[in-house]
Amino acid sequence: MSRPRILLTRRWPDEVHNYLASRYDVTLNERDALPGPQELRAALRAHDAVCPTVTDRLTAEILEAGAGKVRILGNYGVGVSHIDLETCRRLGITVTNTPDVLTEPTAEIALTLMLMTARGAGAGEREIRNHTWAGWGPMRNLGAEVTGRTLGLIGFGRIGQATARKAHLGFGMRVIYFSRRRASEQIEAQTGATHYTSLEELLAAADFVSLHCPGGDANRHLIDSRRLAQMKKTAFLINTARGEVVDEQALAEALRKGTIAGAGLDVYENEPRVPQELLTVENVVLLPHLGSATLETRTAMGMRVARNLDSFFSGAAPPDRVA
Ligand code: DGY
Repeated sequence: MSRPRILLTRRWPDEVHNYLASRYDVTLNERDALPGPQELRAALRAHDAVCPTVTDRLTAEILEAGAGKVRILGNYGVGVSHIDLETCRRLGITVTNTPDVLTEPTAEIALTLMLMTARGAGAGEREIRNHTWAGWGPMRNLGAEVTGRTLGLIGFGRIGQATARKAHLGFGMRVIYFSRRRASEQIEAQTGATHYTSLEELLAAADFVSLHCPGGDANRHLIDSRRLAQMKKTAFLINTARGEVVDEQALAEALRKGTIAGAGLDVYENEPRVPQELLTVENVVLLPHLGSATLETRTAMGMRVARNLDSFFSGAAPPDRVA
């Protein structure tokens, strides 16, 4: 019997390439070139499984044009807002993701951004590199302390909870969270977190607002100029979730006007494009979507995709099915 044909849209770690090549007829992307809509359509028409990443927008139009052959999208990543899940359901295409394995590294990046923004680490490093640092002074390079402050989380899934745990146990932070469902008493006790049912109240109470909700249309521009104005003037906004959750133009304006004290971003609405308005403000730290960027995690993500494909092609239910 011929082996299922699978395609990886980007370059993955060698260990995962080797595993997949031993079991499937694999089309790799060794050069790591970004596939355009034409290539994605062709990939869907020619393979039983296509394994996309956050950089591949699988819209209804692309999925429909390419449908007929592909049976499963083994997404390399936990977020799936770049895939039109409704269309996949309608066309009978299974979709899986990679939860759990990137929880801790993504929470680390949320903490990194909190520390960097509050303590002015980005602006300070720029002074040194630009040879503009005039040396230590009692009133120079002053930032805000993180320890003991209030962290407000929007979304309280795995990554939100891991961020809460590190912030609470590591920095003695008071944690509050807004999410549709309240977490168990045990999780609230472990993370020191209190559930808020009002987003406005959470925004008004937090010194750091960290986003951990899904992207997509449901949460597009959830943080807009109105919500930014509900935050404290001394507060910081952190985004490791999805770029579209924040209205970037409104954020740039809020940062320029001092509506909030600062922001730390790891994700952007139209990656890899970062709006010029954000590049020119000092009180924002900008990272290049580093959440899951360690070799161990990227390998674990690939092996999680492999596990889903193995189950699917052996006739079992893939463990991480989202559509
Ligand atoms: C994900 O898995 O959704 C991440 O954003 C990729 O790092």
